Amino acid sequence: MARSYLSGRLGRWPMSASTLAVPACCRASWTHTHLVFAGDRAEEFTSRMAGRPYDGGGIRVTTDATRAASDDDLRALTATRMAELRAAGTTTVEVKSGYGLNVDDEARTLRLATEVTDETTFLGAHLLPAEYEGRADDCIDLVCGPMLEACAPHSRWIDAFCEMGAFDADQCRAVLDAGRAAGFGLRLHGNQLGHGPGVQLAVESGCASVDHCTYLSDSDVEALAGSDTVATFLPATDFLTRQPYPDARRVIDAGATVALATNCNPGSSYTTSMSFCIALAVRDMNMTIDEAVQAATLGGAVALRRTDVGRLSPGSAGHLVVLEAPSHHHLAYRPGVPLVRQTIT
Ligand code: NIG
Repeated sequence: MARSYLSGRLGRWPMSASTLAVPACCRASWTHTHLVFAGDRAEEFTSRMAGRPYDGGGIRVTTDATRAASDDDLRALTATRMAELRAAGTTTVEVKSGYGLNVDDEARTLRLATEVTDETTFLGAHLLPAEYEGRADDCIDLVCGPMLEACAPHSRWIDAFCEMGAFDADQCRAVLDAGRAAGFGLRLHGNQLGHGPGVQLAVESGCASVDHCTYLSDSDVEALAGSDTVATFLPATDFLTRQPYPDARRVIDAGATVALATNCNPGSSYTTSMSFCIALAVRDMNMTIDEAVQAATLGGAVALRRTDVGRLSPGSAGHLVVLEAPSHHHLAYRPGVPLVRQTIT
């Protein structure tokens, strides 16, 4: 029987849709990508598979290639990735910067990102660029001052990478405070490579989302559960960097809101497939298929503070994904198989 699945509160779907020839699943809002970049890091991936750990240091490799690329090159690369995302069923996407890392290139990559989405995020505090080696606090002053000013016209959100080897809690707090004062919505990368202060900082700062959450202590889970901060899991990153998977069950059972996203970027997660992320969440993070689809739709929308996508309600956008499958269970049951036949926006 042909059925259509519309995103939204689980109790509301599936709905019958006689106009659709094949079963459908609506997946509307997927957060956390870094789509505007040049260069290739396949060698880094290959050496990681041979045992070299991921530490984020390759961000500088992408930064060099991105700075050297023309607007037209970056535009073409981004368009190709957007087409890939759309063909895989993405209808709303957040694009972060973080590969310019100087005033002009952060502003430039964000301006290019605005050509493909309204959900743009200024990530000037992604990694210390080579020219600021040993001068992290000076770099934070740049990010919170001239860089933020140049990026503000092109960005809705601000973000920072709170991690050993990137920026510490005080530095990230300074970025979030400056962003809040300038009117940005707040987000944070945290707890990706080990336990750390990211989740607590995100909750204290009122971030809409803290992303990665691979390593969570009991107090992190408690803090998330008592907050409006969404825990956005990026399981393809854990897969491609050989990290352990977070236990989403523990976070959901505590009462926190969770989302799933691809984290499409050239270093830790070069995939555009949300179906793959859903499959990993079900296989390795103790989520049911319904929870994983909800995290990929409604969860993503909540993480972007959007009420017009990711749910079925009067006035919401009618974004639909048509699947060649008898049910949405096939998203996890048939990993790696391109089931999306059509994406409707
Ligand atoms: O979210 N964690 C920081 N940033 C990206 C990775 C960027 C890269 O390695 O190029 C991420 O995983």
